[in-house]
Amino acid sequence: PQVACTICRGTAVSNSETFELDDIDWDDLGFGLVPTDYMYVAKCSKDGNFSKGDLQCFGNIEMNPSSGVLNYGQGLFEGLKAYRKLDGSILLFRPDENALRMRMGAERMCMPAPTTEQFVEATKMTVLANKRWVPPPGKGSLYIRPLLMGSGAVLGLAPAPEYTFLIYVSPVGNYFKEGLAPINLVVENEFHRATPGGTGGVKTIGNYASVLKAQSLAKAKGFSDVLYLDSVHKKYLEEVSSCNVFVVKRTTISTPAIKGTILPGITRKSIIDVAHSLGFQVEERLVSVEELLDADEVFCTGTAVVVSPVGSITYLGERVSYGKTGVGAVSQQLYSSLTSLQMGLSEDKMGWTVEL
Ligand code: COI
Repeated sequence: PQVACTICRGTAVSNSETFELDDIDWDDLGFGLVPTDYMYVAKCSKDGNFSKGDLQCFGNIEMNPSSGVLNYGQGLFEGLKAYRKLDGSILLFRPDENALRMRMGAERMCMPAPTTEQFVEATKMTVLANKRWVPPPGKGSLYIRPLLMGSGAVLGLAPAPEYTFLIYVSPVGNYFKEGLAPINLVVENEFHRATPGGTGGVKTIGNYASVLKAQSLAKAKGFSDVLYLDSVHKKYLEEVSSCNVFVVKRTTISTPAIKGTILPGITRKSIIDVAHSLGFQVEERLVSVEELLDADEVFCTGTAVVVSPVGSITYLGERVSYGKTGVGAVSQQLYSSLTSLQMGLSEDKMGWTVEL
């Protein structure tokens, strides 16, 4: 890498003792942390301006036990991916969208946020420093995880006096253990992910800790994940723990509208545009749970899950199955169109990819 760690001055590669590139089975990556070489770290104190930031060897960070993020959950994260093209170059997918979403979330969580420019530059720098970890074409991607956290000490409930913006990366494959095979969801009746006026619409860390209970109960029963309903009417679809949801009926594709309780997914937004460009009618609206009964296909979208077909959904003990022959045609078409653009296999007419 062209930038040496400012802490170890290039004398150590933190990762070399624990994990090496040769240890990776590129055909069986899954979605678990593979420690890489470098992470980016910038700090922001009371003046609201972030330091220029630099690359450090990937490793543990020090945190005051009284920090805002550890005590009161004042934190946000993002997720985006880099793909290796056939010619060896690397493509980022819509990093400016993640920067904007982090800025939106930071406003809600009373945190200062890096500018879009700093976010995108820091992302490029981190990926380039770790470029040997970007999987070969077709074998997965480099998942990029930006974090923004209240790292300064607080005891009374208040915004932290100092913030850390950090980016680390890890090569990843498929998110669900099913791989690209359809997943089985259960509609959650007891727990809710978000409420109107809450933080469901931003990518704050607490939204993810709070779904673990329902998710682990569902997994214990053999389901892949949980599909949440709105907390007021207990009737309209919201999202899955880690992704957005779409319902297909003939040539119409419907997805719950963004109204503060649903994460505004960047893959969600991209799939809506891709679907339009392929001639589908797309509706962002209230989608009632009954619509699952006569849907032709259901699929989920997210950076981590990409486009994941749903094989069955269980609601109040009744199981509805989709696509008896495997992945539905519409899910497959959307998956192929989006991923070939992301991997640089088709022309990017949308202007979404950024080449490094
Ligand atoms: C992503 O898709 O990038 C996410 O942030 C979801 C996460 C639970 C893996």
